Amino acid sequence: TDQSRIRNFSIIAHIDHGKSTLADRLIQRCGGLTDREMKQQVLDSMDIERERGITIKAQTVRLIYKAKDGVEYTLNLMDTPGHVDFSYEVSRSLAACEGAILVVDASQGVEAQTLANVYLALDNDLEIVPVLNKIDLPAAEPERIKRQVEDVIGLDCSDALEISAKTGIGIDELLEALVTRLPSPPVKDPSDTLRAMLVDSWYDAYLGVVILIRVMDGTIKKGQKVRFMATGVAHEVDRVGIFTPKGVMVNELGPGEMGFITAGIKAVSDCKVGDTITDERKPALEPLEGFKPTVPVVFCGLFPVDASDFEALRDAMGKLALNDSSFHAEMETSAALGFGFRCGFLGLLHLEIIQERLSREYDLDLISTAPSVVYKIKLNNGETIDLHNPADFPDVTYIDTIQEPWIKATIMVPDDYLGPVLTLCTEKRGEQRDLTYVGNRAMVVYDLPLNEVVFDFYDRLKSVSRGYASFDYELTEYREGDLVKVSILINGDPVDALAMIVHRSQAEYRGRHICGRLKDLIPRQLFKVALQAAIGGKVIARETLGALRKDVTAKCYGGDITRKRKLLEKQKEGKKRMRQFGKVEIPQSAFLEALKMG
Ligand code: GTP
Repeated sequence: TDQSRIRNFSIIAHIDHGKSTLADRLIQRCGGLTDREMKQQVLDSMDIERERGITIKAQTVRLIYKAKDGVEYTLNLMDTPGHVDFSYEVSRSLAACEGAILVVDASQGVEAQTLANVYLALDNDLEIVPVLNKIDLPAAEPERIKRQVEDVIGLDCSDALEISAKTGIGIDELLEALVTRLPSPPVKDPSDTLRAMLVDSWYDAYLGVVILIRVMDGTIKKGQKVRFMATGVAHEVDRVGIFTPKGVMVNELGPGEMGFITAGIKAVSDCKVGDTITDERKPALEPLEGFKPTVPVVFCGLFPVDASDFEALRDAMGKLALNDSSFHAEMETSAALGFGFRCGFLGLLHLEIIQERLSREYDLDLISTAPSVVYKIKLNNGETIDLHNPADFPDVTYIDTIQEPWIKATIMVPDDYLGPVLTLCTEKRGEQRDLTYVGNRAMVVYDLPLNEVVFDFYDRLKSVSRGYASFDYELTEYREGDLVKVSILINGDPVDALAMIVHRSQAEYRGRHICGRLKDLIPRQLFKVALQAAIGGKVIARETLGALRKDVTAKCYGGDITRKRKLLEKQKEGKKRMRQFGKVEIPQSAFLEALKMG
C-alpha cells in the first residue's frame, strides 16, 4: 500500500459519549460490512463488553474510503479501551496511531476520562480531531461544549465537527477530515529490518493466540520467523491478516500498516502488550520505545461458595488467563473460605469484569475477600517485601516502615455536589491539589491513598453526587503511612479472610463496624461468643454474641407442618457450608455478607 494513503487513528472518549456507535457508523459508511452483517457495535466482541458498554480489548478495522479527491485511502480504525484501569493498553494502542478522533457528547461535555484520554493522546504526539457528538439531541449545546473543550483541554475547536453517530449527520465531513487533517505514517523502506508493535492479543478457539500489530519498520510476512524482544521467544508466522471487520488473510503487512498475525502461540502470557516483534534472522538492535510490563495493583481472594466447585474455578481461571495477560491468579487456602485463588488486577473495574465473567460465563458462585493494594514493607533487616495479602503481614516487631500506593485523582462534578465530594475526599485522607471551574462544573484534583479508593470510594462518590461525578486516576508514588493490620477474632481465633490493612486513624471505626455486622450475621450458639477486632495483641473493638438455643421451628408457632419440615431441610443444607472456628460454627454466608460491606 502507498504509505501516503494510510491513516491510522483511534477514537477516544469518555464512557457513553458514543465511541462504539461512531465506529459502527464509520464501518458502515465505508462498506466494511453489509447491512445484514452490520450488527450493533461490532467492535465490542465480548458479550459482557456489549452489555456493560465498555470496550475491554483493543481491536482494529481496515476501512477503504474514497475521498473527494477521488483517491482511495486506507483508514485503520483502532478501538481502545476507555477505562483508566486499562490506561497502559490505551496508551499502547494510541502509540500505534498518528491521529485520534476526540468524541465529546455535546449534551454532557468534558468528563474525567475525556481528559485522561486526551493526555494519553498528547503524550503520544497524536493529531487530534475534536468532534461533538449527539447533536441530534435537543439538549445538545455544541457551541458551549466547544468553548469548554478549549478552556479545559486547550484544544482549538474552531474546526471541531458536529456529528450524530446515531443518525449519521456529519459523518462524511468527518471522514474527509481524517484524510485531510491526520498525517500519514512516516514513509519507510519496506525492506528495512522488521519492527512491529504488539498492540493486543487474545485467544481464539480456532486460530489460537491472535496478535494485533502495527508495523513500524520493514515488512512482516507469512512464514517468517519472528522474535518477541521482551520475552525473547521466537515463532514462525503462520497467518497474516486484517480485519474489515471480518478477518481477511493477506500475504504481508508493510510499514505503517496494521493487522494481525498468528504464530502457533499457545498462551497470551507470551504476548506482552507493547512488545516489539522483529525478524529472528536479522533482529533489530533496539526495541520500539515505551514497553513496560503491566503490573497488577489490586488484589483479592476468590473462593468458590461451594467447595466442590474448586476444580471448575481452577479451570475457568486458566481459561481467563489465556485471554487476559494482565490477570494473575495463584492458589490460596483460607481457614474461613477453604481453597481458592489470590488474584491480581489492573484496577477495580478489571476485578469486577473478571468476577462477572467467572459467574456468568462459567456459572461459578464466588466469594471475594475485600480488595487490597500492594504495600511495600521495609523490614528491620533492610529487606523490602511486596505485600499482596493481609494474611502475610509480618510480625510488627520486624517492621521498619510501611509504604502504600498513592494516586492522583481527577474528579469532575457539577457545582451543586462539590461540597460532599470534597468532604468524601478529605475523609479518605485526600490532599487537594487543584480546584478549577468550567462553567458550573468543578474539576478537582486530589492526591489519595489507593487503599481508601478500593474500599468504597466509587460507590460513595456516585451516591454523594447522584451519579454526576466522573472520576479518573493514575498511580503516582509510594508514600510511607501509619498502617496497621486489623485482625478479626472469633472467640480468640483470628479469621484470615477478614483481616485488613488500614490506616491507624480508621482502624477503630472499621473494626467496630465489622464486629457489629458479624454480631448480626452469626447465628447464636449454645455459649457466648466474643467478636473482637485487634491490632497485634491489642483489642480495639468488641461485641458479644449472647448464648441461645437455636430452634428454627420456633418461628412457626406450631402451625403448618410442611413449612416446619422445609425449615429443617434448609437448616440441614446450611450446615453443610458451616465453617468451624474453635468451638464456633459459622455459616459461610455470614462471611460473604461481612465481606460485602468490606
Ligand atoms: P463505551 O463502549 O461504554 O465506552 O461507550 P461508547 O462511548 O462506545 O458509547 P456508545 O457508542 O455505546 O453510546 C452510548 C449511548 O449513546 C448509546 O445508547 C448510543 O445509542 C447513544 N448515542 C451514541 N451516539 C449518539 C448520537 O449521535 N445521538 C444520540 N441521540 N445518541 C447517541
